[in-house]
Amino acid sequence: MCGIVGYVGTREAEAILVDGLKRLEYRGYDSAGVAIEGPHGIEVVCRMGKVASLEETLSALDVEGTCGIGHTRWATHGKPSEANAHPPPSCGNEIALVHNGIVENFAELRDELEACGHVFRSQTDSEVIAHLVEDAYLQLAERAAERDALSDAQGHRRPHDEAARRAEGEPSILLQAVHAATSRLVGSFGLAVVCESEPGLIVATRKDSPLVVGMASDGAHMASDVIAMIDHTRDVCIMEDGVFAELSKDGIMFFEPAGDGLRTASPRHTHIDWDADLTEKGGYPDFMLKEIHEQPRVIRDTLAGRLVGDELTIDELSLTREELNLIDRVYIIACGTSYHAGLIAKNLIETWAQIPTEVEVASEFRYRNPIITPTTLVVAVSQSGETADTIAAIRDARIKGARVFGITNVVGSTVARESVGVIYTKANKEIAVASTKSFLGQVVSLTLLSMLLAQSKGKLTTGQIRLLFSELADTAEQVEAILADASSVEEAALACRDAKSALFVGRGMGAAVANEGALKLKEISYLHAEAYPAGEMKHGPIALIEDGFPVIAIATNSPTYEKVLSNLQECKARGALVVAVASEGDAEIRRHADHVIYVPAVRDAFSAITASVPLQLLARSIAILRGCDVDQPRNLAKSVTVE
Ligand code: F6R
Repeated sequence: MCGIVGYVGTREAEAILVDGLKRLEYRGYDSAGVAIEGPHGIEVVCRMGKVASLEETLSALDVEGTCGIGHTRWATHGKPSEANAHPPPSCGNEIALVHNGIVENFAELRDELEACGHVFRSQTDSEVIAHLVEDAYLQLAERAAERDALSDAQGHRRPHDEAARRAEGEPSILLQAVHAATSRLVGSFGLAVVCESEPGLIVATRKDSPLVVGMASDGAHMASDVIAMIDHTRDVCIMEDGVFAELSKDGIMFFEPAGDGLRTASPRHTHIDWDADLTEKGGYPDFMLKEIHEQPRVIRDTLAGRLVGDELTIDELSLTREELNLIDRVYIIACGTSYHAGLIAKNLIETWAQIPTEVEVASEFRYRNPIITPTTLVVAVSQSGETADTIAAIRDARIKGARVFGITNVVGSTVARESVGVIYTKANKEIAVASTKSFLGQVVSLTLLSMLLAQSKGKLTTGQIRLLFSELADTAEQVEAILADASSVEEAALACRDAKSALFVGRGMGAAVANEGALKLKEISYLHAEAYPAGEMKHGPIALIEDGFPVIAIATNSPTYEKVLSNLQECKARGALVVAVASEGDAEIRRHADHVIYVPAVRDAFSAITASVPLQLLARSIAILRGCDVDQPRNLAKSVTVE
C-alpha cells in the first residue's frame, strides 16, 4: 500500500516525481505529496485525493529542484486528509521522508518522542520516523562536526568533503541517521529520506515493503515498483531487506549493517525486459477492459513450453518426480482473488491427483496451527508477490518444515524469493486494481500444477495428460470468442444496474467461480454481492429474494448441472431476476433464466476459465453504468503490503 518515488539528478524533479506517482496510484490514491529540494530549502506540497490534484497544484506553483521524493497514500493510521498526507513533518522541517508500510510500535515511540519535546502534527504512524531520523541526525551531525573540527585542526581531510567521503565508501550522516532510526521500528517500511543539510542526496531502505533503485543517464531513481522508473532505466536493483541505498546524481552507493556500524554492499542488479507499452491503455477506455482482453495471450504464454513430448515440465518447482510423489497434503494460501484461484485448484488437485487440499486465507492460516509435515506442499498464490499476510504465512510454513512453492506475477518479488520454486503467471504488469488477467494466469498455472501432481502420482496417464493439455490450450481461443461478442453481458448489466444486492451461485467448480464473480462486482461497482453454493440457498440466503433480486448463476455443463437448475427454479419462483452463464447449445437454460450468457462448452475442469471471463465483463459493465472508476475503486489498493 502506498507508493513512493524519488529522483536526484540533472533534470527538474517535479515532472519525474508526478509521472512516477501516477504509475504507482494503483497502490493507493487517498492523497499525494512531494518534497523537493529547491533553492530555498525543502518545499513540501501535499493534496487530498489523486495525483492529478497534486499535479494541478504543482503546475501553478512551479517548484524548482533536481532532487525530490513523492508519495501516494492508502490510509492506515489517520484518515485521508492533507494533514495526514506524506511527507509527514518533523519538528525542524529539516528532514522530509516518504514511507510505505506500518510502524507497529508507533504509539510507544510517539509517547517517547513527545516526552522529549517533539511536537506531532499528523495522526500518521509515519511521522514518528521523521522525528526519529531528525533526532538521530542532530546527534550524529554534532559528533561529526566535533570530529571534523579536530581533523581540520590537525590538517587532515577537510570537513564535509563529499567526494572524499564517497571515495572512501563512508555512509553519509543522513544514511547513518536513517539506520539508527529504523533500528527502533517494529513493522514494515519502504522509505526515502532527504535532508536540507545534505542536499542532492536521497537515502532509501526497506523492510518487508518493496523498493527498487536504478541509475539512469539523467540521475538516480527509486520507487516502490519498477513501473514508476521504467521510462528512465531498465537496469535496476531490487533492494533486499536491511540494505541502505544512498542516491546522488553521481551514482548509488549501497550499505548493509555490520556490527554496530555499516559497510558497503554490492546488491544484485536486474535487467527489466518487459515492454513499457504495457503501462498504456492501448486504445481501450480503461485498463480493466484492456487486461480482460489480454487473457487469451496470458493463457498461451503460461502454457508455452510446458508440454515437452508427453511430459509436463515445471522445472521451476525444484522437486523431483519422487519428491512430488511423496506429497500427501497441499495447502494453498492466498488472499482475495488469488484465494479464489486456489478454490478452483482444490477441485482439480483432489479430482486428478487425489491429494487432500486445503485452501486458506493467508491472514487466517498464519494465526492457526495447520498440520504441516515434510511431505506437505504449501502453494502461495499472489499476483503482486508482496501481500503481507501471504508472505507471513509462507515464513511460518517454512519454519514448520513445509516445502513452499510460489505462483506470482512479479519477477523477483518476495513470494518468488522466499519460495523453493515459482511459476510466473505471465500476465505481465496488471494495472487495474481489480485482478482479471492475473487471476486467469493463476488458474492456468494451478491447473498445470494439478496435472503435474496427478502425473507424478500416476493418477493420470500420458494420454490423458496430452488430451487435457490440448483442451486447456484451446481455452485461449474460447476466451477470444467470448470477448468477441459481449452483447448478452451488456443486456444483463442493464438489468442489474439498479440492484442493491446480488447473489452469485453455483456448485462444484461453479461455486468457486461464483466467489470470484461476487468479489469482482462488489469491489468495482459498490453493489453488495455474495456468493453461495447453490445448494445452500435454501438454508438462509433465499430469504433475501424478492421481485427483481439478481441471482447470477454459473450453470455450465457439469455433473451437478441439473441440481443447479432446480436451485434456480426455487429462486425464480420467488421473483429473482436470474442471469445464467451457460454452455453453448444449452436450450433448456432459457426456461430458468431471464438472461443467458453463453460460453463455449468445455469440460467441467476448465469451466472456471471460460465462466470467469463474462463475470469480469459483467462486473465492469455494471460498474460503468453506475458511474464508478473501474480501474481505481474507492478504499482499495492493488498491493496490500500491510497486515
Ligand atoms: C481483487 C484483488 C485482490 C487481490 C488480493 C491479493 O480483484 O485483486 O483481492 O487478489 O489483494 O493480492 P495478491 O494476489 O497480490 O497477493
